[in-house]
Amino acid sequence: MKEILKVSHLSVKFSTLRQEIEAVKDVSFSLFKNEALAIVGESGCGKSALVKAIMGLNPKDTSQVTSGEICYKNTNLLELSEEELRSYRGGEIGMIFQDPMASLNPTMKVGKQIEESYILHHPHTTKAEAYEQVLYLLHLVEIPDPENRYHLYPFELSGGMRQRIMIALSLAANPHVLIADEPTTSLDVTIQSQILEQLKALQKKMGMSIIFITHNLSLVAGFCSRIIVMYGGAIVESAPTDVLFNNPKHPYTRKLLASIPRIDQRKTDKLTPIEGHPPSPREKINGCPFHPQCPF
Ligand SMILES: Nc1ncnc2c1ncn2[C@@H]1O[C@H](COP(=O)(O)OP(=O)(O)O)[C@@H](O)[C@H]1O
Ligand SMILES: [Mg+2]
Repeated sequence: MKEILKVSHLSVKFSTLRQEIEAVKDVSFSLFKNEALAIVGESGCGKSALVKAIMGLNPKDTSQVTSGEICYKNTNLLELSEEELRSYRGGEIGMIFQDPMASLNPTMKVGKQIEESYILHHPHTTKAEAYEQVLYLLHLVEIPDPENRYHLYPFELSGGMRQRIMIALSLAANPHVLIADEPTTSLDVTIQSQILEQLKALQKKMGMSIIFITHNLSLVAGFCSRIIVMYGGAIVESAPTDVLFNNPKHPYTRKLLASIPRIDQRKTDKLTPIEGHPPSPREKINGCPFHPQCPF
């Protein structure tokens, strides 16, 4: 398989008034063409800081990439100017965020927003073509009655519908890599699985690579072929999905698996919560970040 994105030894630090936080610690991984990769870990373990570093979206004034490379199709994104990087955002690498309300323009019809994104990334298109494409994209993400929904504003749509609009908006740019940062966390379980099913179908159809970020390991089992587990800013384990579920190597992964309900478990098997707290990002931990909580 061909590598499309390669992150090597990436570390990201936030400097706030009172403290320095090493949010991402020496992270390395590859994303292959047409692959759906999951990054899983508890809240605060550095997932967003990691993918925002890929897009150059961490705050410039308070964050710093202290080491590493992010190679996208053989270009180190960290060496690009803000201007150059902008041409990668959306068209090459798209992103769906957790909160669509924060990413959509509240004063613009949703169809119009998708259309603008389409035109921006397909400059030679005609207005009529762009409109047809918007209807097609709305249809792809299963928005019923696209002709009428085109004219609605974000506040007039439900959370699930807004998230679908966000997906359509990212797809309008026809990205090669789509990063979905907890895109379904605010939605109820049925809608979550519908949207995942849809992303999976779209990925096949459009031949994208996806990085799917979640704190919910059970969500990605049927969706991603490989899983990276993060803890305290570092990768503790990375394996193909079936291997990770059937033969987890790292004690933290085992604890994570024991804490979620599984369809192949007997009703009487109790779920085991993970004891203790993840490390505070201020703490400097040498070696494996899980060792203070590790039973072994
Ligand atoms: N802009 C920021 N300024 C300071 N600290 C931040 C900032 N963004 C994230 N952090 C800190 O970095 C760590 C990782 O955060 P984040 O990547 O958002 O975690 P996750 O996405 O896994 O929930 C946390 O301790 C968080 O408080
Ligand atoms: Mg996050």
